[in-house]
Amino acid sequence: MSKRYTITAALPYTNGPIHIGHLAGVYVPADIYSRYLRLTGNDVAFICGSDEHGVPITIKAKKEGVTPQDIVDKYHAIIKTSFEDFGISFDNYSRTSAKIHHDTASEFFKTLYDKNEFVEEVSEQLYDEEANQFLADRFVIGTCPKCGFEEAYGDQCENCGTSHNATDLINPKSAITGNTPTLKETKHWFLPLNKHEEFLREWILKGHKKDWKPNVYGQVKSWIDDGLRPRAVTRDLDWGIPVPVEGGEGKVLYVWFDAPIGYISATKEWASRVGKNWEDYWKDEDTKLVHFIGKDNIVFHCIIFPSMLKAEGSYILPENVPANEFLNLEGNKLSTSKNWAVWLPEYLEDFPNQQDVLRYALTANAPETKDNDFTWKDFQARNNNELVAIFGNFINRVAVLTNKYYNGEIPQPGEFKAIDEETLAAVKAYPAVIASSIERYRFREGSQELMNLARLGNKYLADEEPWKTIKTDEERTKTVMFVALQIASALAVLSEPFLPFTSNKLKSILNHSELDSELTWEDISTKDVLLPAGHSIQSGKPELLFSKIEDETIQKQLDKLEASKKANEAANKKVEPQKEEITFDDFTKLDLRVGTILEAEKMPKTKKLLVLKVDTGIDTRTIVSGIAESFSPEDVIGKRVTVLVNLAPRKLRGVESQGMILMTEDESGNLVFVNPNIDGVSNGLKIS
Ligand code: MF3
Ligand code: ZN
Repeated sequence: MSKRYTITAALPYTNGPIHIGHLAGVYVPADIYSRYLRLTGNDVAFICGSDEHGVPITIKAKKEGVTPQDIVDKYHAIIKTSFEDFGISFDNYSRTSAKIHHDTASEFFKTLYDKNEFVEEVSEQLYDEEANQFLADRFVIGTCPKCGFEEAYGDQCENCGTSHNATDLINPKSAITGNTPTLKETKHWFLPLNKHEEFLREWILKGHKKDWKPNVYGQVKSWIDDGLRPRAVTRDLDWGIPVPVEGGEGKVLYVWFDAPIGYISATKEWASRVGKNWEDYWKDEDTKLVHFIGKDNIVFHCIIFPSMLKAEGSYILPENVPANEFLNLEGNKLSTSKNWAVWLPEYLEDFPNQQDVLRYALTANAPETKDNDFTWKDFQARNNNELVAIFGNFINRVAVLTNKYYNGEIPQPGEFKAIDEETLAAVKAYPAVIASSIERYRFREGSQELMNLARLGNKYLADEEPWKTIKTDEERTKTVMFVALQIASALAVLSEPFLPFTSNKLKSILNHSELDSELTWEDISTKDVLLPAGHSIQSGKPELLFSKIEDETIQKQLDKLEASKKANEAANKKVEPQKEEITFDDFTKLDLRVGTILEAEKMPKTKKLLVLKVDTGIDTRTIVSGIAESFSPEDVIGKRVTVLVNLAPRKLRGVESQGMILMTEDESGNLVFVNPNIDGVSNGLKIS
C-alpha cells in the first residue's frame, strides 16, 4: 500500500566539503531508502540542506579573514555539487540562511514563546573577558561531566554524545583565547526538557523499544534515566537567526534549535515549487517521518527536536531515527581538522565516474551497528572481487553472447528444465528479500542480497555453459540466454537504490526504455517475463559497468594519507615559548665553534649515548652525546658540527664530556645536526 514519507538527512555543517564518513553514515543509506520507497510507488519527500549557523562557521570565517556568509556560500555550493555527483536524490537541498528558513524558525520560536513553553531566565554564563564575548558551544572546551573526556564542547561531548549546558563543563577553557572563563549574567530562553520527560518516556521507551535500533534506543534510555534538564535555546552570538521576541536583541537562536526546523522549511520550499501542500508531510498522522543521522546527533533528534515538535503541538513525530555509528579511515578517526579523510571532490578526481564503487564499498561495510573501518584494500576488493568479477562479469557475458548469437535480439526460449524454473523462481524472491532488509534499515545486508542475485546469474551461466551448448544444442542455448537475460533485467531494476548509475547504464544496455512499460520493483516478482523474446538489446560492444582497480591506484591513495599524516604532525608540533631574556654579555659567554667528528663509538650498556672525539680547532676532545637512537657511529664520523666548547665538563657513565654538540629535530622528530653551511670553513672558527 502506498504511503507518504518525509525522509530527512542531517543538514551538514557548511564549514568544509563532505567526506566518506558523512556519505556512509547518513546520505547513502537515506538515499537507498528514498529511492527504494519511490520505486515501490510511495509518495516521498527526501529533504536536506546546509546547516549554515553555529560557532564552527564563525571560527572558520575568523581564521580565514572572511565573513561567515562567505564561508557558507562557498561550501554550500561545494557540498550541493557533491551530493548531485554521487546521485543523492534529494527532492530539495535547501539552506538555513534562506529567508524561508529564517521566517519558519522565527515563527516556530514565537509560537512556543506565546504558548509559554519556554522558561526565561537570567543566569550566569561563561564569559571570556579578553575576547569580550560569551562562550557557548564550540567556543568553550572542557572536561565532560559524564564521561571525563577532556575536549568536550560547551553543548555536547563528542565522545559520549551527551548534550549539556556549557556551565556543566569541568575546567572550561575559552577556545578563542585559551583563558579560563569568568561568569557573567545574561538572559536566555530555556526549553524545559524535564517537562517533556514523561511524554518521551512513553513515546520512546514504551512505544519504540522494539523497532528502534538498539544503539539509538540505548542512548536515549540512558539520558532519560539520568533525568532531563532545561536547555538554553538562545545564544549571545551575532551569527544566526535573531531571537524574535522582546528582550532578544543581540541574541540568536541556538543552532540546534534552528537547524532541525530546516527540515520543515526545506519541505515548504519544495512543496511550493512542485505544487504540493507541505503540511501533508509534517502534520498528517499517516505520514511516516524518518530521520537519517550519525550517532552524535541522536540526542537532538530523539529528545530535543521531538520535544520542540510536541510543544508546538501540530506536528507529527519521527517514526524512526536510524542513526549510524562512525566510520573510521585506515584505523583512525576521520577528522576534518587533521585532514584524515577521503573528500568527495577529490575522490571523483581520482576515480571519475566511479561513484557507485564508493557507494557500494561504503554500504557493504556500513557502520550500522558498530564503528567500522574504511580501508582502501577493502575498497579495492569490493570492486575487483564483487562488482567486477561477479556483477560486471555476468552482465558483460550476457550482453556479449546475446549480440554474438542473436544479433542482440532476445531469443524465443525452448522448454524450461528444472534448473531454469528454479532460477526464475529464485529471482522472483529477491524483491521481497531486499525490501525487507531496506525496510529494517539493514542496508549492508540488502547490498549483499543484491550481489547474491548477480552471483545466481553468474553461477547459472557457469553451470549451463551456453558458449559450449551453442555448438551442440541451439534450442538449449536460446533457453539459457533467455533466462540469463531475465536475471540481468531484474538486476537493472533492483540495483537502482544501491547503484543508481550502474542501474541506468544497465537499463540502457538492455534497452529497457523500449519496453511497453517501465519495469517496477514489483514486476520483478510478479511478471513471468521481464524482457520478452524479440526485444533487442543495445548492439555493439557493451559498455563495461566496472573496471579493475590496480594496486598502484590504491597505493597512491595510501601515500596521500601518509602525506597528510606527516603534514599534520609537522603542523601540530608545538613551538616552545621563548625563554627568559638574557643580556648581550650572557650571550658572549657562549663559545661556539665549528668542529668535525673524528671518531665515534657506542657507550657500552646504554641506548642513547655515543662517545665522540671531536676536532674543535682548539683541540681534539671527548664529548658524550645522546644521539645514539638517531645515529649509528658510522653515520656521524666526518660530520661537521657546531660545538659549545666552554660548557663545564661533566661525567656521564664515568666518561668526562667536554662540551656539547648543537642539535635540532626535523619534521618527523628525527635529530639533525645544527650544521650551518660550513664547507670551506676550518675547525675552530668562532660562531657569533
Ligand atoms: N549540522 C549537524 C551536524 O553535522 C547536523 C544538523 S541536523 C539538523 O552534525 F537536524 F539539525 F538539521
Ligand atoms: Zn562525554
